[in-house]
Amino acid sequence: MDNPLIFEKSVPGRQAFSLPDLDVPAEKIENLVPEDLLRDDLNLPELAEVDIVRHFTALSRRNFGVDNGFYPLGSCTMKYNPKVNEEIAGYPGFTDIHPLQPAEEVQGILELLYNFEQYLCQIFGYSAFTFQPAAGAHGELTALMMIKAYHTENSKLKAQKSKIRNKIIIPDSSHGTNPASVTMVGYEPIVIKSNGRGNIDIEALKKVVGDDTAGLMITNPNTLGLFDEHILEVADIIHQAGGLVYYDGANANAILGICRPADLGFDVAHFNLHKTFSTPHGGGGPGAGPVGVTEKLEPFLPVPRIVKEDSHYAFRVTPFPKSIGKVHSFYGNINIIVRAYAYIRSLGAKGLREVAENAVLNANYMMKRLKDYYYLPYDRTCQHEFVISAKWQKEKYGVRAFDIAKRLIDYGFHPPTIYFPLIVEEALMIEPTETESKETLDSFCEAMISIAKECETNPNLVKGAPYTTPVGRIDETKAAREPNLRFCGKQ
Ligand SMILES: Cc1ncc(COP(=O)(O)O)c(C=O)c1O
Repeated sequence: MDNPLIFEKSVPGRQAFSLPDLDVPAEKIENLVPEDLLRDDLNLPELAEVDIVRHFTALSRRNFGVDNGFYPLGSCTMKYNPKVNEEIAGYPGFTDIHPLQPAEEVQGILELLYNFEQYLCQIFGYSAFTFQPAAGAHGELTALMMIKAYHTENSKLKAQKSKIRNKIIIPDSSHGTNPASVTMVGYEPIVIKSNGRGNIDIEALKKVVGDDTAGLMITNPNTLGLFDEHILEVADIIHQAGGLVYYDGANANAILGICRPADLGFDVAHFNLHKTFSTPHGGGGPGAGPVGVTEKLEPFLPVPRIVKEDSHYAFRVTPFPKSIGKVHSFYGNINIIVRAYAYIRSLGAKGLREVAENAVLNANYMMKRLKDYYYLPYDRTCQHEFVISAKWQKEKYGVRAFDIAKRLIDYGFHPPTIYFPLIVEEALMIEPTETESKETLDSFCEAMISIAKECETNPNLVKGAPYTTPVGRIDETKAAREPNLRFCGKQ
């Protein structure tokens, strides 16, 4: 951390611009800013332009991004993000419009949103979508609110008092946001175990399902990268009990053009556009987690909805009296949708299917190459990602998944996700994505194999990594729980 902070580089009076003397009367600052908001002294750094540019360029070089190298962060991958989609989303026709403009002036974006809804319906099998949720977790919350509204409506329709449906069943391989979202809507998460093949344990499911079941929430392929082999039976069991089935489609790369969640019996689903559809996932946003519903949940979708009336597009709040209301201002993060729209249009149906085929092929190729060197807890065909474990390395040499992840940085790779899913000890969750070349996959595998050999010959080397970064090992828990991002130096 030898690079001083920009405040420490500041020299009083130095500035990054030169302007000619003012030749018009200066506006009094008090006329522009209310007096009680005015400050005499602002502690801003004072530097020349070249120093500012160098400062931030130096900082940016310490970052690792998908444009620097391979980024196989399972479940949260930085997927391929074609620059052309970025450019299209930046067109002034998209960036210069305002959400409060009258519909007649923004027919273009409304048409795009309307068509995009049709595309998602075709790809995933749903009858309608909302684009309001700004993230996957937000999509989960929105969907659960609709599930709740559906059950409330149903119990009102039934004259006799039925048992309150307030439980959502979740497998132990689920993403952490699932139980959190369930709790946020006031439901109780019921966690069931996965079986030895990484599927939902049907017997365990039958034991907990009942007339208090509001629904089941799963990721499929799950976070082990495995497609549940009994998914139709699982959906059937929940439906028989009167519950609804929810699909966490945060990562849809493995299923595009291959199968549709609605056809598998999922009543409602969210999809992270900022994973599968050309916006990188990370840093907390911005994102978009559209939620798709089958007909029975359509009345509960958030408003406003986009409708087509003859050849005109409009936002409508009515006639949707059962809607759960708004979950985001206006219509969500529109620019993310523009990128996803461009991505779908440029790939077409055939291209989307190829995404899935290549994502699955790449993951299986790497899994095969690595399974002699790392323990593979579920040895079966994986989907877009797979989970190996550093169990052998830990038992024999005291080297943990964390150490291996750090050592990978020295080899020039971003580490995979570690310690998730929780049901695999010393988990390393690897997602190569569909667009990486065989050379890249091979060089990552060779680095992993080489680290496995280092664990045998020089475990302390691995335990001390990384050696090539500006900072070594930080207290990650403290950094996550007590972030202090303020400058505390001399004021
Ligand atoms: C399986 C799964 N579900 C849900 C989420 C939550 O998505 P987001 O991070 O956009 O809230 C993620 C992403 O981290 C995920 O991988």
